[in-house]
Amino acid sequence: METLRTLETVGKQKLALLGMGTVGSAVAAMIDQSTLAELTHVFRRANKVLDARDTSDFSTILHDASVMTVIETLGGDQPAKDFLVQALKSGKNVVTSNKTVVARNFDLLVRAANEGGSRLFIEATCGGAVPWINALMRARRLEPISQFSGVMNGTTNFMIEQMRTNGCSFDSALRQAQERGYAEADPTADIDGIDTAAKVVISARVAFRARTPTVFPRSGIRALTREDVDMLASYGLVPRLVGTGVTDGQRFAVAVELSAVGAESPFATLPDNLNTLVLVQPHSGMLAFTGQGAGGKPTASAVMHDVLDAALGESSEYEVNEHLRYDPSLLIGDYVFRSPQAPGGYEVERDMSAEDALRHAFERSEGGLPAFISAIPKGALGDLPGRC
Ligand code: HSE
Repeated sequence: METLRTLETVGKQKLALLGMGTVGSAVAAMIDQSTLAELTHVFRRANKVLDARDTSDFSTILHDASVMTVIETLGGDQPAKDFLVQALKSGKNVVTSNKTVVARNFDLLVRAANEGGSRLFIEATCGGAVPWINALMRARRLEPISQFSGVMNGTTNFMIEQMRTNGCSFDSALRQAQERGYAEADPTADIDGIDTAAKVVISARVAFRARTPTVFPRSGIRALTREDVDMLASYGLVPRLVGTGVTDGQRFAVAVELSAVGAESPFATLPDNLNTLVLVQPHSGMLAFTGQGAGGKPTASAVMHDVLDAALGESSEYEVNEHLRYDPSLLIGDYVFRSPQAPGGYEVERDMSAEDALRHAFERSEGGLPAFISAIPKGALGDLPGRC
């Protein structure tokens, strides 16, 4: 309420919206119900232009001085990248839910904002309604963040839960996720960990001020079967797709891995499409944040918080620590692999790097798919055979 009262003093915000998909239409509905903001332009493809505020010409938005903030929900790299760079360089603030464009072009967007004297807001790129970016920004002001991890993809969590608790097949679980509007237009990004990887890159930039290399260990849930889920369950473990970042101050590493977690994990009982994101600091210890990580309305709420922050003159720093070195050897753990030759069909490898584990799974690929591989808690699955 405090924020709303303050906003009244800054006047009604004129906003332009790019994209009217699941997130864009939820954002438009929220703005249309607000007395504090007005949606004056909606960028859509030419054949979708329906009413007076719709335009398929981005320059109309760019050259309208009354538009202070551009909201982008187009997704993907282009044309979003060009639009955002132009908007920022021309002095317009940008609020985006597009993790792909931010993860791939972070430096470019920051430079464009610096050049235009404008501000970039990215809360809606990670964790849907969960205020994750804001939490990282606040946390890092006082002490370094040593680690973060998260179930950052609602689609795959929903699918795992459908397979685990309702006995659904992989395909049926995916279809249900798409019907609910959780999945990306191309669900490959969800299933193969690409969506989570983009969120990890963004989180590492905010948490550690790290510039993450384009290639780092990434797996998904495509190779996961009901048998794998049942095997893990027999050891009291649950599969989750987890994005991770660690740093020791001078070095950092990141990964996206299918991870089997025990009952003590904050990810163990995560239902439906929820996300849980965790940060660790020396003094505050572990902080966990849970909420709706996907879908129109939850993501739109994160967008609207950024719109309010833009109106109130808030800004965020996304500077890079140029001394921080990427070192994948920081991530070492135990892994389980499907192995038709092994008694019981699985084998365990301990103290392996995330990179080596992934390479090992690719070497055993089954019909083009990397063999099932999951990070497991240290020492777990003790009775399974080691690598032959
Ligand atoms: N497809 C994404 C997910 C949407 O399922 O989490 C939110 O980024």
